Amino acid sequence: MSPLIDSTVPLLVQGYAWAPDLRRRHGDPPAVRTRLMGRPALLLHGPAAVEFFYDERHVLRDGALPGPVLDTLFGRGAVHTLDGERHRVRKALFVNLLMRDGSVDGLTALVRRHWTDAVDGWQGRGAVLFDEAATVLARAVCDWTGLAVPEDAAREIAEDCVAMVDGFATPGPRHWRARRARARQEESLARTVEELRGGVTRLHQALPTGAGDTALEAVARHRDADGRLLDPRTAAVELLNVIRPCVAVAWLAAFAAHALHRRPRLADALRADDGAYARAFAHEVRRFYPFVPFVGGLAARDLRFGGQAVPEGTLVLLDVYGHHHDPGLWPDPYRFDPERFLGREPGPGTLIPQGGGDARTGHRCPGEDITVGLLAEFASALAGLDTDVPEQDLRIPLHRIPTRPRSGFTVSVPSRQR
Ligand code: HEM
Repeated sequence: MSPLIDSTVPLLVQGYAWAPDLRRRHGDPPAVRTRLMGRPALLLHGPAAVEFFYDERHVLRDGALPGPVLDTLFGRGAVHTLDGERHRVRKALFVNLLMRDGSVDGLTALVRRHWTDAVDGWQGRGAVLFDEAATVLARAVCDWTGLAVPEDAAREIAEDCVAMVDGFATPGPRHWRARRARARQEESLARTVEELRGGVTRLHQALPTGAGDTALEAVARHRDADGRLLDPRTAAVELLNVIRPCVAVAWLAAFAAHALHRRPRLADALRADDGAYARAFAHEVRRFYPFVPFVGGLAARDLRFGGQAVPEGTLVLLDVYGHHHDPGLWPDPYRFDPERFLGREPGPGTLIPQGGGDARTGHRCPGEDITVGLLAEFASALAGLDTDVPEQDLRIPLHRIPTRPRSGFTVSVPSRQR
């Protein structure tokens, strides 16, 4: 392989712009060779790349994610890092929990309840929507997971989950905060799992809807491909892989507020909606705003893609942010327009903010329906709020991964409104 310049520093400096910029400099091909963290890497782009990447004969996950990402965002031994049979058995745990009937409605109802309480508390003062959404989501997902968590602890869980996401892709203080947050939450949840297995009920509760096992029970009793229970730390990692991404929907809620602020007329469509517009709006938020920059794995064997050799072990990256702003795939990609999705669900390989392929068998996010449901709920709730948006810094810096409106989106609530 020819000596290629390592892209780690440009990635850290350019953030979301790195992949589109790299492709542009090479004439926008479907595959560009580079190096990342000292490793040969290939950046893939486009619907054919999505299909290629999500074929597990092509791309494996074991060993693909760097330690600093595991120690902050996903956790050691997480489902994200497994392949083959080990992945299928662990993935079934998430599919059964997150994709079963009633999950989206159950979580959405809990979010609605906690959001209403939160909004009641803002009367006559301001609120930072990002922080409020994170706390509401933490309360709701803890209820849903079966964790009996006092009010203060839910706020701490929200802050720790935000820290884990905020610090995964950066060196420095944000990264160390993320590591501490993960260590704290893993330790506490591992203890809860041990207590549940030991018959102590103090820290867990039945599903509020009374339907089926809670996530806590399911994870505590899950048997892996080797027939054994998860060790308490890995069980905690997987519980956090339910709790943390639910809290991360706060990023999307802040983006939804940003979109409504920039295009206030869209709120009318949401207010007049029977549900279809809110869903289309949620899809467009996930397409338009930068959240996941790319996903990655390792070439399972010597392969070819887009005219490039892909030697076994190459780090293969699938461009997500660039995919959603490619004018060949999305007419006028920098226009926020929910109508793109009105009356039509995205086809395979088109909208990939949570990965591509089959969520039940591959690595695609099993929480996608939940995300869309929660985001649609937030969009409708935000459209119904009578708030002022004071002067603030609403810029969304592209060099920062993950990014969000700098102010977190502050609102003030003049009178009793919901
Ligand atoms: C996997 C994005 C919400 C649980 C993923 C992947 C992405 C993603 C990009 C990896 C795909 C890949 O590796 O190829 C997001 C985004 C979300 C979100 C942007 C919005 C905040 C959720 C929610 C849950 C969840 C709400 C659970 C309640 C998971 C799990 C995996 C995953 C368990 C691992 C799947 C596997 O490796 O098989 N998500 N997700 N995510 N997500 Fe999400």
